[in-house]
Amino acid sequence: MSNAFSLAADAASALRAKTGVDAFDVALVMGSGWVPAADAIGAPLAEFPSTDLPGFAPPAVEGHAGRIRAVKAPNGRHVLIFLGRTHLYEGLGVEPVVHGIRTACAAGARVVVLTNAAGGLRPETQNVGDPVLISDHINLTGANPLTGATFLDLTEVYSKRLRALAREADPSLAEGVYVAFRGPTYETPAEIRMLRTLGGDLIGMSTVLEAIAARQCGAEVLALSLVTNPGAGLVGEPLNHEEVLEVGRATAQRMGGLLSQVVGKL
Ligand code: 6GU
Repeated sequence: MSNAFSLAADAASALRAKTGVDAFDVALVMGSGWVPAADAIGAPLAEFPSTDLPGFAPPAVEGHAGRIRAVKAPNGRHVLIFLGRTHLYEGLGVEPVVHGIRTACAAGARVVVLTNAAGGLRPETQNVGDPVLISDHINLTGANPLTGATFLDLTEVYSKRLRALAREADPSLAEGVYVAFRGPTYETPAEIRMLRTLGGDLIGMSTVLEAIAARQCGAEVLALSLVTNPGAGLVGEPLNHEEVLEVGRATAQRMGGLLSQVVGKL
């Protein structure tokens, strides 16, 4: 544990040296293939592979190439953008999954914005391509970034203040409960029915461990899911990774506009 935090402090020092930015205000974790959304945040000051910093794992899945971009937004905020992330299903354990968040915290970030591509559990009210604000989560990964007796209150993981700011930018934004499975398989139709019964609205394989790590370091969290497809069995079509990536690419500009408006309000 203390090892993980000293590795994050080392990564933050290397980050300062590479970017010339003394302290970041915001960390922004982008789902796969969201470069156009990142471009909307502002002009890059620096960009490099995340493996240039200590503790970052090489990418395991195509479309998840890990890059780090330092951006100065028009309002002067320094934003640390992670293009691609490490997932629990890569089998490297929890620490590489949350290392970017801990590095961002060590580099000063007090706001963490998480994005993901998710399956929709409520096709009655959700459209593919819609962004949804995460209001709460159900962590079914079986993992946790905290170890030992580090009890942490999770009553408000996803900041009410930041959700209200996001709704000022886009009043049509719905909210929902995000359920995380470890993956890498998508769910069975029976699992999808179970998750609907449990009160889930979105299903994915990321975000919750990062959100917990961000709360542990005292940052405020905003999280947005992009609904890329309905959960298995809800409309009959089998799921395919390429389609998930394609919906992400097709809607990256809308996400970019929304994210840059939110950063502009911080
Ligand atoms: Cl349906 N399930 C999971 N676990 N992750 C997803 C997804 C579904 N759709 C996009 N990502």
